[in-house]
Amino acid sequence: MPPFLLTIIFFFLGGSFASASVPRRQLATRTIQNTTQPCAEVSASVASLFATGSPTTTPTVAAELAYDCLNSVPLHASQAQSLLDSLYPYILWQTTTSYLKNPPAEYVEKIQPAVDVYGELSQIATNISSGAYQSEYEFGFSVYKVFQTTHDGHFTYVPDIIGSFFTFGRPIPLVSVSEDGVSLPKPYVYADVLQASLANSSYTPSAITEIDGQNSTEYLLNLSEVGSLQDRDALWNNLFYNLAQVSLGSSGTTTGVFSGGGRGRWIYPGANTSLTFENGTTRTYPNFARVLVDFTGIENGDDLYDTYIAPEEVAATATATAMTTASIGNVTSVTSASASATSTTSTPAPGYPTPVIRQSNNLNGGYFLDGAEYSDVAVLSVPSFVGLDSAEQEFQFVNQQFIADALAANKTKLIIDVSANAGGTILQGYDLFKQLFPQYLPYGATRFRAHQGFNLIGEKFSEFSTQFPRELGLNDTVEGIISSVFDYQTDANITYQPFTSWPVKYGPHEYNGDNFTSIIRWNLSDPVSIVGGSDIVVTGYLNRTNFTTEPFARDNVIIVYDGYCASTCTIFSEFMRQQAGVKTIALGGRPQPGIIQAVGGVKGTNDYPWSYIKELVDQTFALANSSAETAYYNSSELGTYSNLPLDRGANVTLAVNARDGIRQGDTTETPLQFVYETADCRILYTPEMTVDVTAIWKTVADTVWNGKDACIAGSNDFYGNGTTTKRTEKVVKRAAWSRTQSGPDVEAMMQMLNETIVRNTNGQFGVGVSPLKRSIMSP
Ligand SMILES: *[C@@H]1O[C@H](CO)[C@@H](O)[C@H](O)[C@H]1NC(C)=O
Ligand SMILES: *[C@@H]1O[C@H](CO)[C@@H](O)[C@H](O)[C@H]1NC(C)=O
Ligand SMILES: *[C@@H]1O[C@H](CO)[C@@H](O)[C@H](O)[C@H]1NC(C)=O
Ligand SMILES: *[C@@H]1O[C@H](CO)[C@@H](O)[C@H](O)[C@H]1NC(C)=O
Ligand SMILES: *[C@@H]1O[C@H](CO)[C@@H](O)[C@H](O)[C@H]1NC(C)=O
Ligand SMILES: *[C@@H]1O[C@H](CO)[C@@H](O)[C@H](O)[C@H]1NC(C)=O
Ligand SMILES: *[C@@H]1O[C@H](CO)[C@@H](O)[C@H](O)[C@H]1NC(C)=O
Ligand SMILES: *[C@@H]1O[C@H](CO)[C@@H](O)[C@H](O)[C@H]1NC(C)=O
Ligand SMILES: *[C@@H]1O[C@H](CO)[C@@H](O)[C@H](O)[C@H]1NC(C)=O
Ligand SMILES: *[C@@H]1O[C@H](CO)[C@@H](O)[C@H](O)[C@H]1NC(C)=O
Ligand SMILES: *[C@@H]1O[C@H](CO)[C@@H](O)[C@H](O)[C@H]1NC(C)=O
Ligand SMILES: *[C@@H]1O[C@H](CO)[C@@H](O)[C@H](O)[C@H]1NC(C)=O
Repeated sequence: MPPFLLTIIFFFLGGSFASASVPRRQLATRTIQNTTQPCAEVSASVASLFATGSPTTTPTVAAELAYDCLNSVPLHASQAQSLLDSLYPYILWQTTTSYLKNPPAEYVEKIQPAVDVYGELSQIATNISSGAYQSEYEFGFSVYKVFQTTHDGHFTYVPDIIGSFFTFGRPIPLVSVSEDGVSLPKPYVYADVLQASLANSSYTPSAITEIDGQNSTEYLLNLSEVGSLQDRDALWNNLFYNLAQVSLGSSGTTTGVFSGGGRGRWIYPGANTSLTFENGTTRTYPNFARVLVDFTGIENGDDLYDTYIAPEEVAATATATAMTTASIGNVTSVTSASASATSTTSTPAPGYPTPVIRQSNNLNGGYFLDGAEYSDVAVLSVPSFVGLDSAEQEFQFVNQQFIADALAANKTKLIIDVSANAGGTILQGYDLFKQLFPQYLPYGATRFRAHQGFNLIGEKFSEFSTQFPRELGLNDTVEGIISSVFDYQTDANITYQPFTSWPVKYGPHEYNGDNFTSIIRWNLSDPVSIVGGSDIVVTGYLNRTNFTTEPFARDNVIIVYDGYCASTCTIFSEFMRQQAGVKTIALGGRPQPGIIQAVGGVKGTNDYPWSYIKELVDQTFALANSSAETAYYNSSELGTYSNLPLDRGANVTLAVNARDGIRQGDTTETPLQFVYETADCRILYTPEMTVDVTAIWKTVADTVWNGKDACIAGSNDFYGNGTTTKRTEKVVKRAAWSRTQSGPDVEAMMQMLNETIVRNTNGQFGVGVSPLKRSIMSP
């Protein structure tokens, strides 16, 4: 087996230990001598859980103890500098560094400030050499922040010290709700909202006015910025408990950033959290950290470093895998191998009704609503676009079957709820659009950043491909290459015609002071272009051309967002909004009036894991025809890639945004997440909507089709007719805190909440699909 295959398996096989979690030296069973060392205290405290192998419950310690342990790991300055240097080649693939440094004015005004990625990295180098960092953790956190502050959910690097040993949490998920759907939302403890929703409950929760002694609004606005999204209202929503996120189990952001879900898990929340309520009471809760590795034998920070980070050994591994081997890799088959490890157990979805049909992990599902006024409404809940080979066909089938079921049941109206949707398989976004609106050719313009390494890979793959007929059924290696973007014959150009050569596809074309490839579109009629990972034929193409009629009239379709719509979700949204003209409703948002954006996450159209970039580089070396060519590659950008960032990264998806999404007709080619774009209507979350998802869907149906109006901004005049004259009644039916008559089992939800908070750790999702075909933001 060629050495680089080891790396591939290492990163793609879910079940096996990966990355820094593998002890780099033998763990000694020693008696802890000095328990005043925080890492020794961690070790002693969780020892019994690890005594018989992998713990069955998630071990936790006090947050402060974990933080002290991390801070007791000394900085290894030269290794830190090596790690920093090793990041640069991978960052060359990130499409937006010039836009982040020099963004459009409206982006700075309404979305996020500029970030000079290269400037920040060079500041870190300066800090290393000046001795400004007191610990490995301080260094690692500054590296993490360079990526996080770009607010591009595809652009992620999490050093081992940040993500491999502990994740943090608070034991109290919150929600932000408007009591009547009209007044501005306030934060509450979610358990209080559940308590108030119990049958016959007379309990009325009190809103949170202060957190750790600070104005709660200001505290939460600041904290929200640790999230992965770019839109501030979407970031606000992501702080809180959200039924759609929880329905995704460990592939979502679980109970929200405030309680340590999503990117909140890498932020130290302090030793305790104190909440002061409107009624004057203050309550204090101890924060916790989950322990992710076996601390047996760890007596201090040095031990943690030597055992799990050990750069000497990491460096040796990196050297050994530097590519000169002559054999060809097997990317596609190895990536799909992880699918067999995928869980098929049904994920619980608290607060959701009985589905008509649903995917076994709730990646999508179809629902009908109770009540005569909703008898013609169908709801397609799509909190994901998949990302696991094993679920691809099931996901497509659930959409297809539910549409058929809805039509058979005489439903004429469709609500599509994409709350919590971080993306998934690119072509599933195309497929759902084509199932709904088969008459359109999806536009879907994309482009890569043009740089030397990208060009060399494309030249080599395009040259290699000419030896083979452009057909399926060749071996996996060949198929992986001829179906990749690096074969110029794959894909269509901006006018949906073939590229005639690699240089035509590559360009480069200069925009915003940087270079990019030509516009590239997926060629959906070419079986070779769409093979690998996706495992589906896109509706409307090849053997799925029999879908020709639109199942729901455009004016009878609405999309609902919670702002957490990223990657493939944004591809789907762009088709639905720009091509079909479907209108949108955005939920929640910051406690201020006014309209908000519907789509709050990265609108890049493909993320490339760093491990995949390394595979591409290795494969190019493997295809070199001569030692002179190998020598040339070594002297080029291709010679600068090492495994160090992979070995020193946490066990999460480390990725770049490899492709921008570009709007049809935009001659400035501005990546879409730099374009501000409001929803058609904004609806606030009420307490009931956080307990019973049908309260959201019924409010939406009432607002769009039943002549009522829950929009606090924007308007319910969605399609220019039908509802404009009826905007009189606000959609508030009953006292906010009372329980729904026939809603979910709130007692069961309270029970589940307690279990979820600690155990529901964020997993890595989307690794099953070939990186070529995925656009997914990891939680
Ligand atoms: C790495 O993450 C995957 C996916 O969440 C998980 O299955 C695996 O157990 C993790 N490995 C370690 C060593 O934590
Ligand atoms: C234990 O560690 C602490 C912190 O480094 C140190 O101050 C103390 O002297 C050590 N005690 C013993 C007995 O080694
Ligand atoms: C005040 O409200 C909080 C939050 O709802 C609650 O936990 C607390 O018990 C209340 N205090 C009193 C004195 O009722
Ligand atoms: C808290 O901060 C918000 C936003 O700055 C402000 O509107 C509100 O009045 C403050 N609340 C209190 C009690 O000071
Ligand atoms: C490539 O994958 C195929 C299918 O899994 C397998 O039969 C073949 O041995 C693999 N080749 C290499 C070089 O690992
Ligand atoms: C749908 O409508 C048709 C025609 O009005 C009717 O015959 C049929 O019974 C209805 N089906 C359902 C499930 O309501
Ligand atoms: C796949 O085919 C290519 C070209 O014929 C060959 O070089 C390579 O060894 C084959 N790989 C496998 C795993 O059979
Ligand atoms: C797209 O490709 C076709 C055929 O290869 C070519 O004639 C056309 O000019 C290209 N379109 C653009 C805008 O480059
Ligand atoms: C873009 O690429 C061209 C051609 O390789 C080069 O001359 C130019 O300097 C590049 N521009 C930037 C901003 O890198
Ligand atoms: C359509 O083609 C795909 C890919 O070849 C295949 O998996 C699927 O079974 C085919 N479907 C039908 C209905 O023939
Ligand atoms: C298209 O054909 C497939 C396979 O034959 C079938 O399952 C599906 O129901 C058909 N769809 C439509 C809309 O006719
Ligand atoms: C709105 O107008 C369009 C175009 O005239 C029509 O197709 C549609 O049915 C109307 N919708 C409603 C809800 O009246």
